[in-house]
Amino acid sequence: MRRHDRRACRHGVARCQDGTDSADFPCRASAPGVASAHSPRRLVTTPASPDSAREGRAARALSALAGISAELASARALESTVDRALGTLRAFLEAQQVSLWLHTPQGLALTFTAGEDTTSEDDVRKGLRLGDSLQVVRDLEVAPIILGDRRVGALVVRTARALGDEERMLLTALANLLAPELAHAERSRQLEVEVAARTAEIERGRRFTEKIIDSLPLGLYVIDREYRIQSWNRKRETGMQGVSREEAIGRTIFEILHRQPAEMLRREFDDVFSTGRMQEYQMESVASGEARTYRITKIPMRLGDGPVSHVITIGEDVTDWKEAQERFSQAEKLAAIGQLAAGVMHEINNPLATIAACAESLGYRIEDLEKSGVTIAPETLDFLGIIENEVVRCKQIVDGLLDFSRPKQARKERVNLNDVVERTLFLLKHHVRFKKLTVQTDLDPTIGRVPQANSEQLVQVLMALLINAMDAMGEKGTVRIVTQSSTDPKRGAILEVIDSGHGIAKGEIAKIFEPFYTTKAPGQGTGLGLSICYGIVQEHGGVIEVDSTLGQGSTFRVVLPVVAQ
Ligand SMILES: Nc1ncnc2c1ncn2[C@@H]1O[C@H](COP(=O)(O)OP(=O)(O)O)[C@@H](O)[C@H]1O
Ligand SMILES: [Mg+2]
Repeated sequence: MRRHDRRACRHGVARCQDGTDSADFPCRASAPGVASAHSPRRLVTTPASPDSAREGRAARALSALAGISAELASARALESTVDRALGTLRAFLEAQQVSLWLHTPQGLALTFTAGEDTTSEDDVRKGLRLGDSLQVVRDLEVAPIILGDRRVGALVVRTARALGDEERMLLTALANLLAPELAHAERSRQLEVEVAARTAEIERGRRFTEKIIDSLPLGLYVIDREYRIQSWNRKRETGMQGVSREEAIGRTIFEILHRQPAEMLRREFDDVFSTGRMQEYQMESVASGEARTYRITKIPMRLGDGPVSHVITIGEDVTDWKEAQERFSQAEKLAAIGQLAAGVMHEINNPLATIAACAESLGYRIEDLEKSGVTIAPETLDFLGIIENEVVRCKQIVDGLLDFSRPKQARKERVNLNDVVERTLFLLKHHVRFKKLTVQTDLDPTIGRVPQANSEQLVQVLMALLINAMDAMGEKGTVRIVTQSSTDPKRGAILEVIDSGHGIAKGEIAKIFEPFYTTKAPGQGTGLGLSICYGIVQEHGGVIEVDSTLGQGSTFRVVLPVVAQ
C-alpha cells in the first residue's frame, strides 16, 4: 500500500500546498481525480475537465454531507444515527473502516465503527497528538472532534487511497457536526451516571433509616393528613395483630386497626394535628393473647415550616417495666410498713410485759388470799386467765410483726431446700386438715444448697405457704411442692407451692404481703403469715413470686440464690 508521509509532503492537514511529493512518498492529500503525477488514483480519474470533475466531487461530497446531517438531525437515538452516518461516510469514501473514538474517564475508547476493525488506538492517539486539525498517520485520516476547548474524540477513516480535498473537508465537517452531539451525549451520560450514583446514595440512606426504624424494639407507624399509612416498621408486622408493610402502606389507619373504634382513633390523631403537641398514654391490650400494657406516643411531624403534616405513632410494650415498677413500689411500701411496725411493736412490747408481770403477780396474790381463807369470786380467776391469754396473743402478733420487719438474726448454714420440705411435711403430718389433702412432691435431687440460710425460718415459710394453700382449698384438693434448680445462680434454688384453691384476684396480689391483710374470717387469719414469709425470704436475699388465677389455684414461688450474698 502506498503511504503518505508528513516528512515527505509536509502538508499534513487538508491538502498538499507545497508540492513536496516524491515518488516514494506520494501525497495522499492531493484531491483524487486530479491528474496529479503522484496521485494513487490518477489512473481511474475521468477524462473530463478538472473543473467539472472537481465540481462533480464537490457535489457528491455535499450530497453525502446533506444525507449525513439529515440523519443526525433525525429524532432517532444517537447510537443509530451515528452508526448510519459512519456507514454512509464509509460507503462514500470507499474506506476500509470508519471509526469514532471518544475520550472517556478510562481513556480513548473505540465507540462506533463501520467496516473492518483494524484501526489501532496508538495510531489514533498519534494523530490526535499532531494537532487539532485533520491529520494523517499511515493509512489513517484522523479528524479530531473538538467542541470549544473540550476534546471529545476523533473521527478516523482508514483507506487504501489518498482522500481528495472535498472528501477531507467532508470528514472535517462531519467531525464538527458530531462534536456538539457527542459532547451533549457525553454530558447526558455523565449526568445519568451522577443521577444513578445519587439515587443509589439516596436509596442507601433510605435503607439505612428503614433499618434503624426496623431495629427499634418498638412498633412505629406514620400517617399523613388523610390518615393514610406512610411508614410501618418491622415490629408492627409481627405478633398476632401483625400486618405486613405491603398491606399497610397507602391504606388508612382505620382499615388496618379496624378493631379500634375509628372515631376514637380519629380524635387522637386530630388532637395532634390541631395542637401540634405530643400525646402520650398507656393502653391495655389482650390482642396478643395475654394482657399487656403499651405506652403509646403520638408525635407531630412537619415536612416544612407549615402545619403538622404527619403523625408518628410509637407503641412500646411496658408490661415488664410496669410490673417491675409495681413490685418496686410494693417492696418500698412493705419496707416502710416494716419500719413503722418495728417502732410501734417495740413500744407495745414493754407495756405488754408489764401487763403480763402484773397479771402473774395478781395470780400469786389471789392464791395467797385464798390460802388465808378469803373467798375470791370465781370470775376473778377467769378474768385473770383472759388477761394472760390475750397478752400471749398480743405477744405473738408483736413477734410476728417484728419477724416481718426484722427477722431474727438466726444461725446461718448451708441448707438444702429438699431437707426443708421433708422436715415441714413431717411436722404437718399429724395436722387433721392436712391429712385430707393430696400432697405431691417433686424434688430436684440436683438442687444446690442455699448458703447462709436458716432452716428453721425456711420451714416456717413453707409451713405458712402450705397452711394458706390448705385454707384456699378447703377440705380437699391437691397441693404440689416442687423444688428446682436454675442455671442463674441468683435464682439457683426454687421452691414452689402449687395449690388448686380459689386463687387470688389480680388486684389483691399486691396486698397479700402487707401485714394484717387477710380475707379470712376473724379469728381464722391474722394476715401476718405472708408478711413474715416476705421478711424471711428477703433476709435470705431471695424473692417470693405469685402466679394466681381466680377459681383455679395459685403458685407461690420462693426463689433463693445459691451464691453467697
Ligand atoms: N394459697 C392461697 N390461695 C389463695 N389466697 C391466698 C393464698 N395464700 C394467701 N392468700 C391470701 O392472702 C391473704 C394473706 O395471707 P396471710 O398473710 O398468710 O394471712 P392469713 O392467712 O392470716 O389471712 C389471705 O387472707 C388470702 O386472702
Ligand atoms: Mg396465712
